[in-house]
Amino acid sequence: MSGACTVVTGASSGIGAAVAARLLARGENVVAVARRADVLAELYGTCPTAVCAAVDLESPDATARVAAAIKERFDTVRGFVHAAGFVSPAPLGLVQDETAHRLFSVHALFPLQFLGWLAKRTNHSDGAAAVLVSSLAAHEGDCGNAAYAAAKGAVEGLLRPAAAELAPRGVRVNAVVLGVVDTPMAQGSWMARCTPEQIDARRARYPLGFGTPEKVADVIDFFLGEASAWITGQCLVADGGHQLT
Ligand SMILES: NC(=O)c1ccc[n+]([C@@H]2O[C@H](COP(=O)([O-])OP(=O)(O)OC[C@H]3O[C@@H](n4cnc5c(N)ncnc54)[C@H](OP(=O)(O)O)[C@@H]3O)[C@@H](O)[C@H]2O)c1
Repeated sequence: MSGACTVVTGASSGIGAAVAARLLARGENVVAVARRADVLAELYGTCPTAVCAAVDLESPDATARVAAAIKERFDTVRGFVHAAGFVSPAPLGLVQDETAHRLFSVHALFPLQFLGWLAKRTNHSDGAAAVLVSSLAAHEGDCGNAAYAAAKGAVEGLLRPAAAELAPRGVRVNAVVLGVVDTPMAQGSWMARCTPEQIDARRARYPLGFGTPEKVADVIDFFLGEASAWITGQCLVADGGHQLT
C-alpha cells in the first residue's frame, strides 16, 4: 500500500471511529490509532486501506510509534484528526497530579509532538490538514472539570502558532470545539451519574439536540477537505446551539 493517509486518533470509539469510517467508506487510507488493539482489529482488520496502530498516547514514544505505523505503509500524510481523549472529573482540591499529567499528555502534548514531527517532514501532501478536537469545557465553568478544561485550553493555545508555522508548508490546522456529543465518553461519565430527568434538562439546553459522532464527523470532514482550503487557525464551535441558550 502507498499514497497519502489520514491519521485518526481515538479511532476505536465515538467521534474518531465515525471519522475513520467516513474516510474509509470513500476509499481513503487511514492510520487508526487507539490503545485497544482488539477493538481496532475488529473495526478495521478487514479494511484494505486501514492500518491499525495500537498506541498509548500517554507514552513518551507515542509520536515515534505512530510515525512508524505511517511509514510502514504510506508515503505521505494528508490529514491528522486528534479525537483521542478521556475525562476524569474531580473537584479542584482533589485533582491528582498523575491524572492531570495523563490528561495533558493525551489531549495536548501528543498533538504538539505530532505536529512537530509533521513540521520536520517533507512528506506531507500538499493541502494537508489537521483537525484538533476541543471542548466547550475549556470555555464554561463546569465544576469538577478543571484539569480536563485546562488540557483542552492547551489544545486551543497550540492551534494558532501551529497553524502559522505550518501554513507556509501548505498544512492547515483547525479545531472543533464541541458541546455534548452522545458517545461512550459522555455515556460513561456524566450521563452515568445523572437521572433521565437530569439528562433531559441538559438536553433542553441544546436547541438542536445533543451531537452525534456522525454530525461531528461532518464538521471534521469539512476541515479536512478542499471546501475549507482557505481556512486555518480557526476554532469552530459545534454545539447544537447550546451557547444561544
Ligand atoms: N462526547 C462529548 O460529549 C465530547 C464533548 C466535547 C469534546 N469531546 C472530545 O471529543 C474527543 C472524542 O471523544 P469521544 O466522545 O468520541 O470519546 P470516546 O468514545 O470515549 O473515544 C475516546 C477515544 O480516545 C481513545 N483514547 C483514550 N485515551 C487514549 C490513550 N491514552 N491513548 C490512545 N487513545 C486513547 C479511546 O481509545 P482506547 O480506549 O482504545 O485507547 C477512544 O478511541 C475527545 O477529545 C473528547 O474530549 C467529547
